[in-house]
Amino acid sequence: MIKVAVVGTGGMAKSHVENFKKIKGCKVVAGVDVNQQRAEEFCKTHGIAQAYSSVSDLLKSCDFDAATVVTPDAFHVGCSLPLLKAGKHVLCEKPLAPVASEAKKLVTAAKKAGVINMVNLSYRRSCALQEINKIVASGKLGAIRHFEANYLQAWLPSKIWGDWRTCEGWLWRLSEGHGSKGVLGDVGVHITDLATFAANDSVKTVNGELKTFHKAKGDRIGEYKLDANDSAYMRVELAGGGVGTICATRWASGQPNSLTLRLYGEKGGIRLDLDKSYDEYEICMGANLDKCKWQTVKARKSPSIYERFISSIKSGKNDQPDFVRGWEVQKVLDACIKSDKEKKTITLR
Ligand SMILES: NC(=O)c1ccc[n+]([C@@H]2O[C@H](COP(=O)([O-])OP(=O)(O)OC[C@H]3O[C@@H](n4cnc5c(N)ncnc54)[C@H](O)[C@@H]3O)[C@@H](O)[C@H]2O)c1
Repeated sequence: MIKVAVVGTGGMAKSHVENFKKIKGCKVVAGVDVNQQRAEEFCKTHGIAQAYSSVSDLLKSCDFDAATVVTPDAFHVGCSLPLLKAGKHVLCEKPLAPVASEAKKLVTAAKKAGVINMVNLSYRRSCALQEINKIVASGKLGAIRHFEANYLQAWLPSKIWGDWRTCEGWLWRLSEGHGSKGVLGDVGVHITDLATFAANDSVKTVNGELKTFHKAKGDRIGEYKLDANDSAYMRVELAGGGVGTICATRWASGQPNSLTLRLYGEKGGIRLDLDKSYDEYEICMGANLDKCKWQTVKARKSPSIYERFISSIKSGKNDQPDFVRGWEVQKVLDACIKSDKEKKTITLR
């Protein structure tokens, strides 16, 4: 039985616990939150035996094998490092860290500890995405020439997920001082991973623009200065020569959480729309190419990140996406920020 501790018992932690509960051979044994009362209530609600108010207390008093770090972005590194040093396997929420140099610390520590490390780029659970990666890798689409990848959310113009003006869980996402890199760090990380994983390629150059819109009097609510970007736009060239755009916004009225990808190669195209389905994608290739006819394909089932994490611990073989992948994606986000600041195209090393 693999014993898992949940670090950070806010909004997303519920999904982690529900997913781990579905997996045979693992058990969530502890919840940790700097807000002790929140940790206790969370543990009570989910039938978790022990609640702690810090990672150091967890390490001192609890018998566990692995941890899932679900704190706000600014605390991922601070919480994960002691866990890794203590030899615990770690699944960490995205983005691994606010900047790539910090993410690198986790890569190094995980390597030194020799433990399983994964980053929760959760849209990898789409079996359609997994199959698209395999199709592209097989060469069936030929070289990738062009792509468009969008992640659209609506929580700023609407109250679809509650009123962001009064909710700590949304306010820290709007504030650089609270470790947020805005929509770019929050969901730009997902769509960058999704696009480059689908294209089976890495980013060579980035030309990015970020925009922070006026949202409240004095651009501040209480301790939260509302200075993190709400719309992000990247023009990207891939190492293999393909070009495309990666966009993310929180201002997409009517689109609560939409991810779409259009990917075009020399010999065919693929369309993925996660609003429609996580299992299906559309493809135009072969005999259909000249007719521009699209075929809908149902992908074979594939495991979630939580299942991958637990089976990696059991097998000792680290599945993807690992911390190295989290670090690589972070470098693209850092390049976008640099490009926006310096108004020039950035080449990644
Ligand atoms: N992969 C996904 O699809 C996905 C979806 C939503 C959120 N997330 C990520 O999950 C993380 C948490 O997001 P959320 O929406 O649950 O935030 P949240 O603000 O609702 O919850 C975070 C919790 O962490 C606690 N916390 C803060 N510092 C801590 C520390 N040092 N030690 C222990 N607990 C601490 C807070 O008190 C809070 O209860 C973020 O990194 C976010 O980007 C990922």
